[in-house]
Amino acid sequence: MCGIAGFVGAGDSLRQAVASLKRLEYRGYDSAGVAYSTGDELRIARCPGKVADLEALIAALPAASGPAIAHTRWATHGRPSEANAHPHGDCTGQLAVVHNGIIENHQAIRQTLLSAGHRIQSETDTEVISHLIEDELVGRRGASGLVEAVRAATQRLHGSFAVAVLWSGAPDVIVAARRDSPLIVGLGDAGAFVASDVPALVGWADRLSALQDGDVALVRGRSVTIWDADGKEREASMMPLTMSREAAEKQGFAHFMLKEIHEQPRAVKETCRGRIGSDGEVALEGLGDAVLELLRSGNVHFVACGTAYHAALIGKRLWDQALRRHADCTVSSEFRYDRPLIDDRTLVVLVSQSGETADTVAAARYARQLGARTLAVVNCMGTSLERETDAALITRAGPEIGVASTKAYSAQVAAMGLLAGQAGWADAGQALSALPDAIEKVLDNEAAIKAIASDLATSNCFFFLGRGHDAAVAAEAALKLKEISYIHAEAYPAGEMKHGPLALVEPGVAVVGLCTRPSTHDKIASNLMEVRARDGRVVTVVSDGLPIPEAATDVIVVPSVSEYMSPIVTMVAMQLLAYYVALARGCSIDQPRNLAKSVTVE
Ligand code: G6P
Repeated sequence: MCGIAGFVGAGDSLRQAVASLKRLEYRGYDSAGVAYSTGDELRIARCPGKVADLEALIAALPAASGPAIAHTRWATHGRPSEANAHPHGDCTGQLAVVHNGIIENHQAIRQTLLSAGHRIQSETDTEVISHLIEDELVGRRGASGLVEAVRAATQRLHGSFAVAVLWSGAPDVIVAARRDSPLIVGLGDAGAFVASDVPALVGWADRLSALQDGDVALVRGRSVTIWDADGKEREASMMPLTMSREAAEKQGFAHFMLKEIHEQPRAVKETCRGRIGSDGEVALEGLGDAVLELLRSGNVHFVACGTAYHAALIGKRLWDQALRRHADCTVSSEFRYDRPLIDDRTLVVLVSQSGETADTVAAARYARQLGARTLAVVNCMGTSLERETDAALITRAGPEIGVASTKAYSAQVAAMGLLAGQAGWADAGQALSALPDAIEKVLDNEAAIKAIASDLATSNCFFFLGRGHDAAVAAEAALKLKEISYIHAEAYPAGEMKHGPLALVEPGVAVVGLCTRPSTHDKIASNLMEVRARDGRVVTVVSDGLPIPEAATDVIVVPSVSEYMSPIVTMVAMQLLAYYVALARGCSIDQPRNLAKSVTVE
């Protein structure tokens, strides 16, 4: 989704802000822009397209010594265009605002502003913010005046926002504010930063602080002052910035996605580190007695979006099948608008890589309102989800930059294994400890998977079939392929093909059969024969030791591991398959069209 990167300090802040913005490209966007102060006046440059287009636009401009705020926009209100790109100005041309989130009452505010004579130039919800601040600035002066105006204006907004503001009346500061959209401030040798995500700071700042809901921050070259929701000044509580430059860069891999696929043995090992004793027993620290007790004997309801939802499905299977206890699993956007069966004996487990997915954060709040305890399984630290839940289990996949989630999924499934282990699944330690080596073996098979992918890349229709846990993996495998290759892909429990989808099978349709489950191996082998009989092309993923299904035209053998953790191993092969199909089709792998890394709007 949208990205914010601002800088105030020594050197050329215009180019620094845009360089920081480039680090946020992975979030997905369709236009880019920057506002900067020359010392005398405020200027704005923006365009539809990529940050590279913005770089070309500013190439001939002189360095800017005043502050700069830059933005990547993922269109919500109004199509991608120069007029709709951020930053947005006011009627005076003295103010510039960048904004992430959605202003829900923007239409009502727009009408009021238009009646009062404001000239609004874009279709965006954002532009009303600049005009509201413009009104609030009347009679106010300097940096403190801007802080007060931003506070007053944002109090009139409904919805979510992270904003950064420049004003020529306070030419050496950035003022920032947030509610329900992440925003951080950072400090380094050269100056101070405002950003929506940590990669924008890496290499330039050495400490950072996450703003809380309702905060307004005044950012100067060497200092950050924060006022909380009640207007009280509070300590900025800076933490060291620990993300390494390597994590924020590709390190020789063609794409972040490929780098992150290869980081999975480490992601799983790190997620389990210190959480499994030498006796193989899982012991999770810091969850608190109430959460531990509910894990052992309460009701469990998993809630998540996208890939995290597919990881949560494995959590539900662990509960149902390994622990023989009922559990539910619901996508966040359904959970929060339904009446789930939840009470004070329920533990709601919210799974999220970013910890900022709007629907998942809102679901956490809703679960609490219903009286449940809440546990976040989250990859990023200090996030909204962590703040909204009773306890957190941090997956330690490291920063994930590729929009299509890979290592975060493996770490999430491993976390599901850890939770089940804590709840009484006796095989957890052994099953989890075997994973890093098994993943390495799949990675060793990359060239063979690449060859199969190159052959399949012309197919315009894929089915992913599985039974039991493989049916849940099929959903994630289909998602991965469609996200990055734009090929229509569907997942089905293999036995369901003959109840409809088989009608679509014809030459050119690719069917990937996931065959890692011994108890239904013969059944899926027959299902795949039904596909082959209709001239579909059948690729099978088979656990080492199981027979190769007769229908297979291509085979990917994966190491045999515990069936509950085999989703990780199978998915590594499926991620490589999706990656190389997308590569062969020339797709934009790290930034697929229309998608965003972190979905901070509903
Ligand atoms: C977006 C991303 C997906 C991710 C989903 C949930 O759609 O593109 O990769 O799985 O959001 O994100 P979360 O951060 O909550 O895991």
